[in-house]
Amino acid sequence: MAEEAVLGYLEHNELIKDSGEFAVEKGISHDEIVNVIKSLNGYKYVIAKDIKKEKWQLTAEGQAYAANGSPEFQLFTAIPPEGISKADLQKKVGDSVFKIGCQQANKNKWVEMGKTQVSRKVEHVDDNVKAMLVKIKDGEALNQEDIDALKRRKLISPQTWKGYSVIKGPDYAPKRKKPATDLTRENLSSGEWKELEFKKYNFSAKGFPTEGGYLHPLLKVKRQMQMIFLQMGFEEMPTNNYVESSFWNFDALFQPQQHPARDSHDTFFLKEPSTTRTLPEDYVARVKQIHESGGHGSRGYKYDWKREESNKNLLRTHTTAVSSRMLYALAQKPFVPKKYYSVDRVFRNEAVDRTHLAEFHQIEGLICDRGLSLGDLQGVLQDFFSRLGMTKLRFKPAYNPYTEPSMEIFGYHEGFKKWVEVGNSGMFRPEMLLPMGLPEDVRVIAWGLSLERPTMILYGIDNIRDLFGHKVDLGLIKSNPICRIGLQYQPDDEVSD
Ligand code: PHE
Repeated sequence: MAEEAVLGYLEHNELIKDSGEFAVEKGISHDEIVNVIKSLNGYKYVIAKDIKKEKWQLTAEGQAYAANGSPEFQLFTAIPPEGISKADLQKKVGDSVFKIGCQQANKNKWVEMGKTQVSRKVEHVDDNVKAMLVKIKDGEALNQEDIDALKRRKLISPQTWKGYSVIKGPDYAPKRKKPATDLTRENLSSGEWKELEFKKYNFSAKGFPTEGGYLHPLLKVKRQMQMIFLQMGFEEMPTNNYVESSFWNFDALFQPQQHPARDSHDTFFLKEPSTTRTLPEDYVARVKQIHESGGHGSRGYKYDWKREESNKNLLRTHTTAVSSRMLYALAQKPFVPKKYYSVDRVFRNEAVDRTHLAEFHQIEGLICDRGLSLGDLQGVLQDFFSRLGMTKLRFKPAYNPYTEPSMEIFGYHEGFKKWVEVGNSGMFRPEMLLPMGLPEDVRVIAWGLSLERPTMILYGIDNIRDLFGHKVDLGLIKSNPICRIGLQYQPDDEVSD
């Protein structure tokens, strides 16, 4: 309605002189008119010019006098023709009217002030102050002298009034058109496009932020690890089976059935399907024999090996289960040397804390060839870890059921200024390799480490729950560096074991 009023008026008139007067004339609120003018001005339908006016407004005191009369008038009318004592008069009109009223009435020479008595000096007075205040209230003009007098008595205060004068703009039309935002097949074929008013391009408008996929730090470091293995001539092992039988996870690795790692406190066993369906029977028989009574120069463990125990399905506790499958497969054909690696998930029934989860990723490498020695293992580890940026290595004797000798690997961390454990390694035992059918002179050197640990070091994360699981901050995934190189230089935070 306000928009029609403005545009309609300008169709036949040059100018809206004063938006305030215009609003009164049209019976529309000034605020509404102002909003429409601003909007039309933005779209160049009209050109609006600011007008400012000083207006007068009654103060609270002014409002009271406009309603009840000025104090001097109230005082005058309270004086009876015979006069009154000051005390009685004060009681009659109240303190504030008495005080101000006396002053003003005296000044106007309306009253005679005696020592104790007050009496009228004139018979009749007009309340001009009230009349002026009422005029201001009604928006009528006063002369400057009167304004000054009211201002001095703080009965009125100035107020700036803002409005507009309005003329037609360059894009004036009697009715506003909604600008079209698209040139469509329909408006092209109907010819409607000729009449349409198109919205102007806004070249400084920001586009939608492009959202792509983001790689988790674990995936990035996994990729770096894979690159290192590939550069060193390793082939990837197929690790796409989280569920494994106890046979491949433990028995094939010469891990006795009473070993504590095979307890449900350490390993997740499956309820359904709880057992494996097939195992290579002739190989199973050889594994049973090596556990029970040994062979190939070994005395074995001297216990009753149970098939039911090896049938039990579990979530693999290490990717070495995959290594045992791969080596068995290798032994079924004429021997060729191999270098294998994998980076994939393993599961252990562990108490979760800042550095341990019940699942993590294991990096595993192995080389299978004739006549390999512990020196070869140390040399390969030196090569592997220096490609990760860790050049100073130390080895500590360790124990694994499936390797002999076994070595823990320590790397000197230049950032932490100390030796940190970086992995586990060894040479697979003959009790593991010979039942598979590998030639007697074939040796396998192997090592394993977690993916989480180097990732935490590289990305300066000191709580594993910030890296993996439901508490991970997606912001970290979106904003972490594409790549971090050199295990020993990067971190600010120390990673504890
Ligand atoms: N399987 C071992 C682990 O779980 C790692 C390892 C792999 C050790 C190969 C020696 C040889 O830690």
